[in-house]
Amino acid sequence: MARRKLIYEGKAKILYEGPEPGTIVQYFKDDATAGNAAKHAVVEGKGVLNNRLSEFFMAGLNGIGVPTHFIRRLNMREQLVHAVEIIPLEVVVRNVAAGSLSERLGIEEGTPLPRPIIEFYFKDDALGDPLVTEEHILAFNWASQQDLDDMVALALRVNDFLSGVMLGAGIRLIDFKIEVGRVWDGDFQRLLVADEISPDSCRLWDIETGQKLDKDVFRRDLGELADAYTEVARRLGVMPKQGRAGGGPKLVH
Ligand code: TMP
Repeated sequence: MARRKLIYEGKAKILYEGPEPGTIVQYFKDDATAGNAAKHAVVEGKGVLNNRLSEFFMAGLNGIGVPTHFIRRLNMREQLVHAVEIIPLEVVVRNVAAGSLSERLGIEEGTPLPRPIIEFYFKDDALGDPLVTEEHILAFNWASQQDLDDMVALALRVNDFLSGVMLGAGIRLIDFKIEVGRVWDGDFQRLLVADEISPDSCRLWDIETGQKLDKDVFRRDLGELADAYTEVARRLGVMPKQGRAGGGPKLVH
């Protein structure tokens, strides 16, 4: 069989040319990295879980009219997505202080924020993805004012959706990151939520105990990452049919 054309290999995913024009196959690897790849491990099953979880969130968003790149899942590790032109910004939404916000501003982790706070980081590994302001984004033409307005609106809708879905699973959505891409319909451009939404790109705390169920388990050496992600998948009813996350007996009512 002819090998697909590799487009890009990142830290956690590989992109291949898709079967139809304007599509891409997104392959989820088991690699876990933190601190701009300063820390690296292979976590068996992570790619399978993130493929399923990102499908679950993106398909759910599509279903409520929040446009995403997701088309369909192809197999355990791959999904078909729309090819987009990625805007070189990470859009972070925070509901509760944690991580870099707590460090930068000296606000204790776990402090609820008075309203969702949106931040933009310039996607540049060599620079360590620095925090940037709208002034930088406009001056350097990374996005237009209209793009910025649309990104904020998208990010807030994703926040409402994800917060609600998580709450139903006994999970508090502390913060998350999305990436946004452009697609063209003739002369008109539309923005889509792209990349992935998974416990790699969210902070998720158990609502009762505060237990971390996201990549901080790996960043901070708090236990087995695959166990945390499996727990998120289990609570959301997103379970791979086989493999580590799918094994074991199930209660039948
Ligand atoms: P931060 O507190 O480290 O800035 O992270 C905020 C949120 O963004 C957190 O849910 C993790 C996510 N994130 C990524 O997905 N990728 C990144 O490169 C960074 C820095 C954060």
